[in-house]
Amino acid sequence: MRPVDVAIIGAGAAGLMCALTAAARGRDVLLVDHSNKAGKKILMSGGGRCNFTNLYAEPDNFFSQNPHFCKSALARYTQWDFIAMVSRHGVPYHEKKLGQLFCDNKAKDILNMLLDECAQAGVDLRLNTTVQQVERTDAGYLLHTDLGDVVAESLVIATGGLSIPTLGATGFGYDIARQFGHDVLPTRAGLVPFIITDQLKDLCTELSGTSVAAVVSCNGQSFSENILFTHRGLSGPAVLQISSFWHLGDAVQINLLPDRDALEWLQGQQAARPDAELRTVLSEVFTKKMATLLTERWFAAKPMKQFTPAGLREVADRLGAWPVVPAGTEGYRTAEVTLGGVDTREVSPKTMESRRHPGLYFIGEVLDVTGHLGGFNFQWAWASGHAAAQVV
Ligand code: FDA
Repeated sequence: MRPVDVAIIGAGAAGLMCALTAAARGRDVLLVDHSNKAGKKILMSGGGRCNFTNLYAEPDNFFSQNPHFCKSALARYTQWDFIAMVSRHGVPYHEKKLGQLFCDNKAKDILNMLLDECAQAGVDLRLNTTVQQVERTDAGYLLHTDLGDVVAESLVIATGGLSIPTLGATGFGYDIARQFGHDVLPTRAGLVPFIITDQLKDLCTELSGTSVAAVVSCNGQSFSENILFTHRGLSGPAVLQISSFWHLGDAVQINLLPDRDALEWLQGQQAARPDAELRTVLSEVFTKKMATLLTERWFAAKPMKQFTPAGLREVADRLGAWPVVPAGTEGYRTAEVTLGGVDTREVSPKTMESRRHPGLYFIGEVLDVTGHLGGFNFQWAWASGHAAAQVV
């Protein structure tokens, strides 16, 4: 039987941060992962460049059934703390847009930084290690693993959510939570592309690869960013963002002319260029192909002067509030995050410790805390991992 101070299951973003911080405090830390590599999602993230935090991260960027839960941890380990670590390691980075910080080179720089910190602090990292069972004993938590039995004073669950099973995602954390009497709120895929199967599918397929600025709205939320047409439907940052607020059957509204009053603009164009065709006018805002397709599918291919005031209003309404009813999402196969998870009302917001079982902690995405797109989910992983590490 191997005794350790802290056993952490899951060597992803949250587990690595918790391990390196707890070990730096002098705790004897065992970090196990069933994968053959630590931090696989870090490597895949941000298109291979890891959007590791956001300059403007604050609690409003996160949602949960318990919206205040994230505040304490985010305040005690901020984006500036993580940026300080990145700078200390000389990892070059830049702001891409909207406060989103990305590596100049590769996401591997962030993973290597975390692994270096773990090694320096003496974390015992064991990959390809499965935990078969966890029991509570007088001495703490008894783990039956491939390494043999391990008994830990503190047990930290950092196994993430269900998104992208091929990157090692499992429901293990939820199973442990239930085993120890915690509620697990219903989970679903978030930050995920939409699938379109109705009459709009052809349009999406034909415009596949086209990206355009838009405001996408649903259920009282709006995001102003690009959308991307795909062979299956719609993606791009604004669509990924809204997917976290969308439920099956909901309509999504897309404003394809986000920077202007659609009707005013069209009226102005009609007055200034009465002989110009609608598609020529639209090609100032969209690609030529998109302007042509939208005109052919939705409107009439005729000069601006032939549109009646009502006809022009119809064009403005359609472009300003295009209604789309997705058939579904691409699901966990491609989702960046899992919504829902371990109910935070039974977890301390200061320490991430279970209110039911002292010594048991939940950190990162396994909890019912989800960030917007833009580096916020990693910031939650760093902050919650750091919070637990102060007390484990
Ligand atoms: P994470 O999933 O990182 O780690 C969980 C670990 O637990 C994994 O290593 C897994 O192998 C291990 N594990 C699971 N089950 C186990 C078991 N039974 N036994 C042992 N180990 C087990 N966020 C962001 O802020 N910026 C970004 O750029 C991106 N980009 C991005 C791209 C893609 C493709 C995805 C899928 C996700 C993102 N994200 C993101 C989201 C971000 O990756 C995510 O929120 C964090 O990685 C969550 O960190 P955790 O440590 O909680 O889980």
